[in-house]
Amino acid sequence: MQTVEKSIDSFVDKYLIPVEDIWQPTDLLPNSQNEGFMDEVMQIREEAKELGYDFWVVLVADMVTEEALPTYESWLMDMEGVDQHGKNGWSKWIRHWTGEENRHGDTLNKYLYLSGRVDMREIEKTTQYLINDGFDIGTGRDPYKNFVYTSFQELATNISHKRVGQLAKKRGNKMLSKMCSIIAGDEMRHHLAYREFVKIIFDYDPSEMMLAFHDMMKKKIVMPAQFIRESGQGIGEAFENFSNAAQRLGVYTTYDYIDILRKLNAYWEIDKMNNLNDQAEKARDYLMNLPDRMSRIADRIAVPQDQHKFKWVEANGVL
Ligand SMILES: [Fe+2]
Ligand SMILES: [Fe+2]
Repeated sequence: MQTVEKSIDSFVDKYLIPVEDIWQPTDLLPNSQNEGFMDEVMQIREEAKELGYDFWVVLVADMVTEEALPTYESWLMDMEGVDQHGKNGWSKWIRHWTGEENRHGDTLNKYLYLSGRVDMREIEKTTQYLINDGFDIGTGRDPYKNFVYTSFQELATNISHKRVGQLAKKRGNKMLSKMCSIIAGDEMRHHLAYREFVKIIFDYDPSEMMLAFHDMMKKKIVMPAQFIRESGQGIGEAFENFSNAAQRLGVYTTYDYIDILRKLNAYWEIDKMNNLNDQAEKARDYLMNLPDRMSRIADRIAVPQDQHKFKWVEANGVL
């Protein structure tokens, strides 16, 4: 961590964008100081009528996932090697990353509020519950495992925001589509940064990095919203129905999960790594075989087609 930290300023410059240059939610939403604000809001509400039930469920849960950012920031700040009190550069990275991420929930939250298609109060309760419930991604305070997780998860969010944007575009909803694709662009930059951190760690500490990657994939990468619930439910009870809706729409599927793993294996050149101890060699072979093994299992599993009725979205929309 000390080794990578020496270059933290160059990573901030390369992968993050300064406040004065980056987009803000207001660039993508109707500006309430403008004369035409109400017209633009009416347009949002008209266009929103074209979007179906599963779509709203997924957009709500994606927004709530983004809004649980306090959980992610505090988790990362607690990693070994990070010092938020001293001059350690890692806290700078985490703060700047958080600053960028914060705009995602902000944007989607405002859009959903204006759309008139969802029950904001129920959604707000879900967000508060999710922050209360926290998460457990199986990394502990280990930075190697955490960077595997973030490398994976930033790409997963890139894919899901991008696909939601494509679906919105298909239904003629340009404003929402632009929002989602611009957010997806942020996620991609973050993914590129985290996978680079891992790549550097592989250079310095290949066996331990391999074992950390293996450990994370063996337990499976859980989603940050694993504990999501609706009001009146127990912890995590809404997750499966949300995930099924995302699979039905093709926004994020088991095949995407496998594809991300293949991409990480390729970028980190897992197959070419030879300077490993015995245990790490076994881990490498496991990781190389895992995508094919998972595909065979995925082919046999059908996605449930029955739509759960969420409190977040009224059922009288387009199905
Ligand atoms: Fe995000
Ligand atoms: Fe992200």
